[in-house]
Amino acid sequence: MIDGRTKVCGIIANPVEHTMSPLLQNLYAERTGVNVIYVPFKVESQDVEAAVRGAYAMNLVGMNVTVPHKQAVMKYLKEMDENAMAIGAVNTLVRIDGGYKGYNTDALGLLRSMKEAGITVRNRPCILLGAGGAAKAAAYTLAMEGASAIYNLNRNPERGQDLANDINQVTGRDIMKAMALLDYKKLPAERYLAVQTTSVGMYPDINGAVIEDREFYRLIEQAVDVIYTPAKTRFMSYVEAAGGQATGGLDMLLYQGVIAYELWNPGVKVEQAVLNEARELIKKQLKESRS
Ligand code: ATR
Repeated sequence: MIDGRTKVCGIIANPVEHTMSPLLQNLYAERTGVNVIYVPFKVESQDVEAAVRGAYAMNLVGMNVTVPHKQAVMKYLKEMDENAMAIGAVNTLVRIDGGYKGYNTDALGLLRSMKEAGITVRNRPCILLGAGGAAKAAAYTLAMEGASAIYNLNRNPERGQDLANDINQVTGRDIMKAMALLDYKKLPAERYLAVQTTSVGMYPDINGAVIEDREFYRLIEQAVDVIYTPAKTRFMSYVEAAGGQATGGLDMLLYQGVIAYELWNPGVKVEQAVLNEARELIKKQLKESRS
């Protein structure tokens, strides 16, 4: 029931038509009994500032921000969460006095999904595959959680080097080392936690993994692939075939939204049964969008 007290949240993106967030966020509102609705807003790149100011003027309690506005939006915020600042990208705005505060719940979602999968980072050597936006959030998360070292493997090693420089600078530790993709053969012989952030293996090109050599996978004890479609990527199959444990990106997707919902509605918690319901809803939507 929408009435005069209904709080409004939304997502700004372009295109916005394919987002699953309204379905999920409105499910959380219904199940937690909060009088809030969540709607999609298509915003052109030149209108990001007007959208943020307009949202504040119209009393929106929060917004998600996605492609292509995750960096552009930062200029128009009143405050930035430390994580979002270090990562240099924002996907969630929370209304505060005088404007919005920016958060990066992609990174927080990854952390929560790793914890739920029983993955700990502290004092572990890590391999990070990829050096794009998703890699930056993952690298920062691994560094802050106390990884002993992060070896970045990327097709374009200069991009990996830029990322390593950034991470080493913000964390004040010489923790990340950039290597070319094929340099995996030079990695110290250890058992690693690996985070896969490249787009290789993502639907519809599901028959590929960023590294095909099965020897590489013997180094991996646990792995997270941030891809959520398909649910099991070829990368994950290779990890499992070599005796490692692999987790997909679906829970990261789920938790980034739940964390945003809980930021907008302080004191409200989305229970496990609702999370399970939301997970099934995502799977159903993904299946429908492919058929
Ligand atoms: P996102 O924001 O989702 O991380 P992105 O910034 O486009 O997306 O990054 C995509 C990542 O996948 C990059 O690390 C890219 O490697 P390059 O930096 O060398 O471009 C990686 N990637 C994409 N296609 C690839 C391929 N065929 N082989 C290896 N890496 C690939």
